[in-house]
Amino acid sequence: MPTQVAPDCDIVVFGGTGDLAVRKLLPALYLRDNDGQLADGARIIAVSRAGLDTAGYRDKAAAEMRAFVPANAWNTAAVDRFTARLHHVTIDVLEHDGWHELTALLDAADGVRVFYLACAPSLFGPVCAGLQANGLTGERSRVVLEKPIGRDLASARRINDEVGAVFAEEQIFRIDHYLGKETVQNLVVLRFANALLEPLWNSGSIDHVQITVSEDIGVGGRVGYYDTSGALRDMVQNHLLQLLCLVAMEPPSRFEADAVRDEKLKVLQALRPLAGAEVHRDTVRGQYVAGLVDGKAVPGYAQELDGAASRTETFVALRAEVQNWRWAGVPFYLRTGKRLDRRASEIVVQFRPVPHSIFPGVGDEALAPNRLVLRLQPNEGMHLHLVTKEPGPGGVRLRGVPLNLSFADTFKSRTPDAYERLLMDVVRGDPTLFMRRDEVEAAWAWAEPILAAWKDSGTPPRRYSAGTSGPTAATTLIERDGRTWHDEEAI
Ligand code: BG6
Repeated sequence: MPTQVAPDCDIVVFGGTGDLAVRKLLPALYLRDNDGQLADGARIIAVSRAGLDTAGYRDKAAAEMRAFVPANAWNTAAVDRFTARLHHVTIDVLEHDGWHELTALLDAADGVRVFYLACAPSLFGPVCAGLQANGLTGERSRVVLEKPIGRDLASARRINDEVGAVFAEEQIFRIDHYLGKETVQNLVVLRFANALLEPLWNSGSIDHVQITVSEDIGVGGRVGYYDTSGALRDMVQNHLLQLLCLVAMEPPSRFEADAVRDEKLKVLQALRPLAGAEVHRDTVRGQYVAGLVDGKAVPGYAQELDGAASRTETFVALRAEVQNWRWAGVPFYLRTGKRLDRRASEIVVQFRPVPHSIFPGVGDEALAPNRLVLRLQPNEGMHLHLVTKEPGPGGVRLRGVPLNLSFADTFKSRTPDAYERLLMDVVRGDPTLFMRRDEVEAAWAWAEPILAAWKDSGTPPRRYSAGTSGPTAATTLIERDGRTWHDEEAI
């Protein structure tokens, strides 16, 4: 990765001892530091109520983050350099206590100030008010909001209002880490740096699109958060809709923040609203029960909740439509769930069949329509399924074969984690890969009636065994339209 040193900065992480900081933020910053991207004076200031001193935090951070850094990138000199950048400040945001220490630290530097709110959304407003009261919100300050931004439209607006009362929109970076994934950025490049696809990228040539984010993990230690959220709020309202936007958007005039975000917003606004009876027809929600994942027995969701009854969905499949000229009549099937049979995220663009077969005696099956599969993770890559002639005499026999591009084989480099890219974008002040307020609210406006219809129905989610591909109703949902889910074999 080319090294371009970022501007001098202080990155202040509220929730600095939490799970996100340990698993994602510190390892990402360590790796950027290792590549020489952090300026010499850059500091990372963890804020928490843990009452640690800086030396204690440095030891704790180094011990805890190690498990999340690739083993070949971990070396003593680099760890020592990185941990010397770490500081800890104890602040009780609700008690307005401890701010002077942070102010004193920050006043000693004059670089960019990034406030990363890796804490509960209910604290976003109070943290921002505290930053303002302590004079920390000037032009060189930026605030990063982790999801979830609200749990419905009203709460998202409230949070956006509270943060917006303190920071200007261009200072607010709403993270959707899917946008920082290499393969997701590559989707934009694939579409707009190649002349080949764009003329076909519409309802004339495309039959339907599938977006799958399948996880084999359960909710584990996050059950408290997850049970108030569920798969629609946790994954669909943000990650899956953002992927849909990138597939469906019109070409932006430039790869720049507002040009891209304007186009994504138009897609969200063009989504056909699902409400009432349509929700029951076009969505499926499920919850896992005990089963086997990779041959190992795993508990059901209710057991992870200590046996408490819950109607929270851990799986969603739905059929969406983008109502505009380009996409009229092209369904977008979205699917995500926990404790499924595999970890795999992919976008499948299914093209239409050839209009007429010139090959006598060749069945429809051999003339399989072209399919473009973008594998987001793991084994990042893409496949274009084409029909070819099987070599050999004895007439024309056709066979579908994939043209494969594996990023690992082609580029021979490590795929950086999304947070590495996104954190550096914040420091550089580039919001292209972040969500604007109107996008977040448009996504909630679409998701909210689905949640309401599920609640009103009074029925529980369908059960599916852990280690399967989800409830059978998800298969029926797509088969009803004469289509099937494409579960790519391991690549
Ligand atoms: C998070 C969700 O935003 O994304 C988690 O809250 C989910 O529930 C995670 O597991 C998936 O991210 P990734 O990068 O592992 O696909």
